[in-house]
Amino acid sequence: MLAQKTVVLGITGGIAAYKAADIASKLTQAGAKVEVVMTESATKFIAPLTLRNITGRPVITDLFEPAAEHSLEHIALAEATDVVLIAPATANTIAKLAAGIADNMLTCLVLATKAPVIVAPAMNDNMFQNPATKDNLARLKARGFVIIEPGYGRLASGKIGWGRLAEIETIIGTVKQMLGRKGDLAGKRIVVTAGGTQEPIDPVRHIGNRSSGKMGYAVAEAARDRGAEVTLVTAPTSLAQPVGVEVVPVQTAGQMKEAVAKAVAKADALIMAAAVADYQPKSISPAKIKKEAPTLTLELVRTPDILTEVKGDFLKVGFAAESEDVIANAKEKLKKKGLDLIVANDITSAESGFGTDTNKVTIIDRNGKVESLPLLSKREVADKILDKVVELIS
Ligand code: CTP
Repeated sequence: MLAQKTVVLGITGGIAAYKAADIASKLTQAGAKVEVVMTESATKFIAPLTLRNITGRPVITDLFEPAAEHSLEHIALAEATDVVLIAPATANTIAKLAAGIADNMLTCLVLATKAPVIVAPAMNDNMFQNPATKDNLARLKARGFVIIEPGYGRLASGKIGWGRLAEIETIIGTVKQMLGRKGDLAGKRIVVTAGGTQEPIDPVRHIGNRSSGKMGYAVAEAARDRGAEVTLVTAPTSLAQPVGVEVVPVQTAGQMKEAVAKAVAKADALIMAAAVADYQPKSISPAKIKKEAPTLTLELVRTPDILTEVKGDFLKVGFAAESEDVIANAKEKLKKKGLDLIVANDITSAESGFGTDTNKVTIIDRNGKVESLPLLSKREVADKILDKVVELIS
């Protein structure tokens, strides 16, 4: 989704400047044209040559005497770019931006651009906590700048505190979100469920399944990157929380049902990628069950069927995890659960089962149209599903 997009990466002079190389690399790998603009002090922390090699583009610095053809380059870039990302942003640059000072290539470019500007501060914790910095950041926020709050952890001084550059994934996720804000799902609210629910047996055990949550998370991120407002109702997974998505953590099918009912109130679509347990223990033992008897029988009762029971005027998308008669079973589920779309996959296949990064699915819509897709990454599958959602909503 970053292909054909121009990202200006502004680097200012702090110890976290070395992390800008990683950001530049990830953005470039994702297909973006990355134009690096460095302040003079940034060049003391990391060589422009490094960035030039990573991005394959000339780097703009304040170091060279601008030649005639270069002198307006930053202004042309200010107009051409889709987004400006300043990472890391020092207290000094933040103060200049807040005051509207344009005394170097980067601050001039920011003043001249109409593109969204994302600022990822990184500095000493006292500088970050200083009311002057807080005030400057508040002023930028009020003017529409997107601020990526720094994290807590070890700082260059050796102290532990606030001021660390946010995680690279958070920064990249924010760039994607800003680039997608006018996408084909702009203004739409999408609720996605993900992961495998866990039904407790006693305080330390549960019945679970092998869902990794990857498919649902990919759908949530893809919807975000196309401009949707996304709520992700997720059973426990080991995945990082996607940026720019409202995350509602749940454990059981019952909790998921409640969270979904609440989230769909104003939704345009519900995409149920979660692997919801079909049965739960009839009662949960309040104490840890001891291994005394040679056998143990658990009595299970049905969980609610969330897709069937949830009511409202929104598009309903289900998944059908099948091990045989995939298409026929999926068609049957679509009808039985009153769905608009069902995504069927054969969970017995090694490359499209639980936990994989790829999936091979067949999408069936309410009109009986069947589309079998080749093996794709889960993110590509997510976008194919959303293409269908866009078609059916409009
Ligand atoms: N689903 C749900 N509530 C449940 C079980 C499943 O909302 N209690 C949803 C899933 O999220 C999925 C779809 O229904 O989108 C189909 O799930 P699947 O497990 O394939 O089918 P089941 O309805 O559970 O039927 P079966 O296990 O008999 O195949």
